Amino acid sequence: MNKFLPLAAISLVLAVSCAGPARKEVRSSDRVESLLSKMTLDEKVGQLVLFTSDWSVTGPSMRQGYIDDIRAGRCGNIFNAYTAEYTRKLQEIAVNETRLGIPLLFGYDVIHGFRTVFPINLGISASWDIDAVEESARIAAREAAAAGLHWTFSPMCDICVEPRWGRVSEGAGEDPLLGSRISAAMTRGYQGGDLSDPSTVLACIKHYAAYGAPQAGRDYNTVDMSERWLREFYLPPYKAAVDAGALSVMASFNELDGVPATANYHLMQEILRDEWGFQGFVVTDYTGINEMVCHGYAADEADAGRLAINAGIDMDMQSAAFFNYLKEQVESGAVSRKTLDRAVRRVLNVKEALGLFDDPFRYCSEEREASETLTDANKAFARKLASESMVLLKNDGVLPLVKGEKVAVIGSLAASRDDLLGTWRAAGEVDKVPASILDAIREYNGAANVVYAEGCKEQGDDRSGFAAALAAAKRAKKVVMVIGENCHWSGEAASRSDIRIPGVQSELLEKIAATGKPVAVVLLNGRPLDLSAESETAGAILEAWYPGTMGGYAAADVLYGEYNPSGKLSITFPRNLGQVPVYHYAKNTGRPYVHPEAKYESRYLDVPNEPLYAFGHGLSYTSFDYSDITLSRPIFAENGSLTASVTVTNTGAVAGTETVQLYIRDLVGSVTRPVKQLKDFARVTLGPGASETVTFTIGRETLSFWRQDMTFGPEPGDFKLFIGGASDAVKEAEFDYAE
Ligand code: NOJ
Repeated sequence: MNKFLPLAAISLVLAVSCAGPARKEVRSSDRVESLLSKMTLDEKVGQLVLFTSDWSVTGPSMRQGYIDDIRAGRCGNIFNAYTAEYTRKLQEIAVNETRLGIPLLFGYDVIHGFRTVFPINLGISASWDIDAVEESARIAAREAAAAGLHWTFSPMCDICVEPRWGRVSEGAGEDPLLGSRISAAMTRGYQGGDLSDPSTVLACIKHYAAYGAPQAGRDYNTVDMSERWLREFYLPPYKAAVDAGALSVMASFNELDGVPATANYHLMQEILRDEWGFQGFVVTDYTGINEMVCHGYAADEADAGRLAINAGIDMDMQSAAFFNYLKEQVESGAVSRKTLDRAVRRVLNVKEALGLFDDPFRYCSEEREASETLTDANKAFARKLASESMVLLKNDGVLPLVKGEKVAVIGSLAASRDDLLGTWRAAGEVDKVPASILDAIREYNGAANVVYAEGCKEQGDDRSGFAAALAAAKRAKKVVMVIGENCHWSGEAASRSDIRIPGVQSELLEKIAATGKPVAVVLLNGRPLDLSAESETAGAILEAWYPGTMGGYAAADVLYGEYNPSGKLSITFPRNLGQVPVYHYAKNTGRPYVHPEAKYESRYLDVPNEPLYAFGHGLSYTSFDYSDITLSRPIFAENGSLTASVTVTNTGAVAGTETVQLYIRDLVGSVTRPVKQLKDFARVTLGPGASETVTFTIGRETLSFWRQDMTFGPEPGDFKLFIGGASDAVKEAEFDYAE
């Protein structure tokens, strides 16, 4: 039974101190304050401890027996435990068997869906469909909350220009503006309008900060960049999620400027709380505290724990440093009581905002779990989002396929349902995936019109299936080869030093293409790959990412033109690893490469500077024509704005959706500016022959950046403006900004 009486109805009352908005202090409801006054030191520390259940772990288990710890009031938060039944069982222990009955908070990595699995986040971001992104988070929250979960470790807001890094699959790509719109949308989707609504879950902004920039793309590796670069390109998506109301943040594993994020006062206090006004709690990543010993930043685990809490960490995920040493540190004065209480208050405030003190069991609902999980509507939405996320990189006319035409399907990934789910699939299960890509093509085309040959596995050098694959290709009119990386090659601890397609898949592709049969490649993978070879041999390339529960059908929808592809890359695809990092907001340098034969210009001798597939690129089965840009005026001044319009016409024979992108260049600045930087975008759906005028508003905010004196704002001068369907296919105009 819940031991709390519903006292004050207020959940989070914020009082702004006299120091102004820079120093907001969280004050809690009477209920939280009264609870705090009754808590022993052990109980307080317990609220700052987050242990994994024994269901699944992604690192060492520092502590066995979490159930006993819950019972002793020494573990107030659990992750990796779900289902209404199991969370209820644990919650009953916390509520009924501990002295104060404080409810547990249950967290889990609900990253791209819970039971209904959506495409991996890099794929979702390629849809550029912000409403759909929000809806995917809403559905994930509804399914997760019904299974007893209160908290998802998402959105992942890490900007990344590093394809070697396995976790590039979990984010929204390279761009801060697109990344910010997505992190805000996901936060809204998870948390809804009211956190106490039992169909919403608490969002967790991660991995704060700049985890997506590990040196050499090796997971957990050192990060170092200027404060300006950090603020301009890396911090915006975290901030956007704070602004959207996210009430928890996860500190990242990496160091930044020599200080591990887990003990980084500048990040956690000065930027997150003082500048951005964040009001929730900060949790470490998995054993992030212990790892500061390996970083060489703390002498031992106790010291690491002290450094973490004093720098602004409120909750310790899995390191047991708070569990083992914090009480003693408070008693000795190494950590002040005020610091301890502040952290406890932040955690209790969020528990209260979730409504857990009113009803600790409101999230565990076997009934909702059965009725709201993997519904037909959720699956239909997942299918649509998966289609929207796919990017047609190349098409010489092989696609769309024609129903009833004999097709050879080749590749081990074609028959895999497991790989469709990708990394961090939460509670997604392979037996809930209704169709592999092969199954779906068979349904579309009639099984008799489909010949399948595995050809080769996605790894290894076994060529024994080549002959059968070539024979299959010869019997068919067209070939679909499903190749790429298996799902374990993406995600945490899945960095690669080679971003070409593994194994002998490309060799087989070359041989199949040499038969003269038109070949469409469907890619399953979670990172930008070096597709230089495949782009020469394949007639078409469809980037399908790991498309989720309904991914087999979604791929077939696109292949057969049932869904006209509309995805656009949210990250640049390089020609080879040597070009990395390559991204659309690069600077001009003092020696830009403009003269074809020049030697002493910023260029490579062996490849062009341009990537293979630029940011924003993505083809359709129709074509779009862009008019010249019309500006409402050639100049605007402070507090004013101008509009830039283009008319987009569908010049093909089928309806299609185009993402119209706006880029800007500030020609001269107090610090150098990117040659092109995304500033806005809009999706338009047009029937054949139809036109629509798309208008963007450019104001002070659009032109703002971190100036030389580290203030954020615009500078007067000349600007270029670009609008088009990809960062490398744009119309241009110019305007002035005056102050
Ligand atoms: C480690 C990962 O870095 C993080 O993203 C995840 O949320 C935690 N483990 C919990 O599983």
